[in-house]
Amino acid sequence: MRHVLALDQGTTSSRAMVFDAEGRVCACAQREFAQHYPRPGWVEHDAQEILDTQLACAREALAAAGLPAAAVAAIGVTNQRETTVLWERASGRALAPAIVWQDRRTAAHCERLRADGCADWVRARTGLELDPYFSATKLAWLLDHVPGARARAEAGELAFGTVDSWLLWHLSGGRLHVTDHGNASRTLLYSLADGNWDDALCELFGIPRALLPRLVDSIGVCGESAAEVLGAAVPIAGIGGDQQAATFGQACFAPGMAKNTYGTGCFLLMNTGAQAVASHNRLLSTVGWRGGGLSAYALEGSIFMGGAVVQWLRDGLGIIRHAAEVEALAASVPDSAGVVMVPAFTGLGAPWWDSHARGALFGLTRGSAAGHIARAALEAIALQTVDLVAAMKADGAAPLRELRVDGGAAANDLLMQIQADLLGVPVVRPQMLETTALGAAMMAGLGVGLWSSTAELAARWQAARRFEPALPDGRRDALLARWRRAIERSRGWAAD
Ligand code: G3P
Repeated sequence: MRHVLALDQGTTSSRAMVFDAEGRVCACAQREFAQHYPRPGWVEHDAQEILDTQLACAREALAAAGLPAAAVAAIGVTNQRETTVLWERASGRALAPAIVWQDRRTAAHCERLRADGCADWVRARTGLELDPYFSATKLAWLLDHVPGARARAEAGELAFGTVDSWLLWHLSGGRLHVTDHGNASRTLLYSLADGNWDDALCELFGIPRALLPRLVDSIGVCGESAAEVLGAAVPIAGIGGDQQAATFGQACFAPGMAKNTYGTGCFLLMNTGAQAVASHNRLLSTVGWRGGGLSAYALEGSIFMGGAVVQWLRDGLGIIRHAAEVEALAASVPDSAGVVMVPAFTGLGAPWWDSHARGALFGLTRGSAAGHIARAALEAIALQTVDLVAAMKADGAAPLRELRVDGGAAANDLLMQIQADLLGVPVVRPQMLETTALGAAMMAGLGVGLWSSTAELAARWQAARRFEPALPDGRRDALLARWRRAIERSRGWAAD
């Protein structure tokens, strides 16, 4: 048995990939699923659709690889993080739509807690901000709004999970209610120092302990799939939130190594080694992975709108028909001619954490054209990343020697060049861009001994292209100063 099945459950699609023992992709299946925006600021998924698309992809990928499940050495699961599912233990049925990480409905709850002076205490305990992004206030909302949910939760009839837990519950035929430490560290219910669920946090957010999944290692066998689901019992040996998995897949095993994933959002994670590093610049401190003799924490900068900005140019503004067209449109002008976009469509994440900020376009003139807006959009993705790197530096991280990149928008050469220019640091794109699924497969393969060490995995990582910074410092500084002004003007916009 020399193949690993990776299940990659993302924000806009479910994917499954089969990897061979050399880490090569043998087969891939992908299904998009519906995004629901029932009210401004709300984002929901149908948890059943998440499950159905994910299992369909798993079966399709196995069929395309010509493998029965019995020939698979291990399954690795990686997932959109923070998204919150509440289900009934008896039936496995979700009680409500999943509340997606981007959802802002609990902004007022977070604000009340901040007004009560809880933010510093929460940050010190969890490494996170008091922001609607994370799971705890989303779960509290479900308990308060789904009729009878709170009483049933207290009676032990219900289960909470992030998407990894939800998938593993069903993959195991209801036998596993687990999550790994990395996913748990995104809930606001997990103490970084204790490496465990935290009673005081549960009390603060009003979450009954009976709802929470059991904590397991990210790397190592935690159970197996039920034979009736995929056709055979297969060890489940890797679990990681998608950003943790991408960091693993990018072979960022040594402290100081960092990757940026340009997916729906942008997530920059720097490995900080066996110790959690507390940020003083509003980055997140989070568990990277645990198990198989490894333990890593990470400093993270989370941006809510990355590649989604390009989607908006396509679906909201209609200035491109396909996402890939943005590169040519942005390259049709030499610069943005003073146009600046702040993509605060769902508020601003790190390092600003302003859920009332809203998107804005500045500097429009009669000469502004679609090309300038497209270029400003790409620059905005890169400029947000520059702010994260600056915050990491201010937190005392060693200067980045290079930034490893992945995710859909990392295929955009112009964006990568703009990123290198604005960062002043080389940007390196690997040959294997599917680092999230690869990372989950690597965790699972290590977990069952298909691979023996991270050194073996790191040796396989190969750069495909390196983008060197080519912008004079003075020009970079001017662009950054203009960006900061635009950010300030967008903040607090939706406060009343
Ligand atoms: O924290 C949210 C993140 O895990 C979502 O990632 O790739 O689905 O945009 P992605």
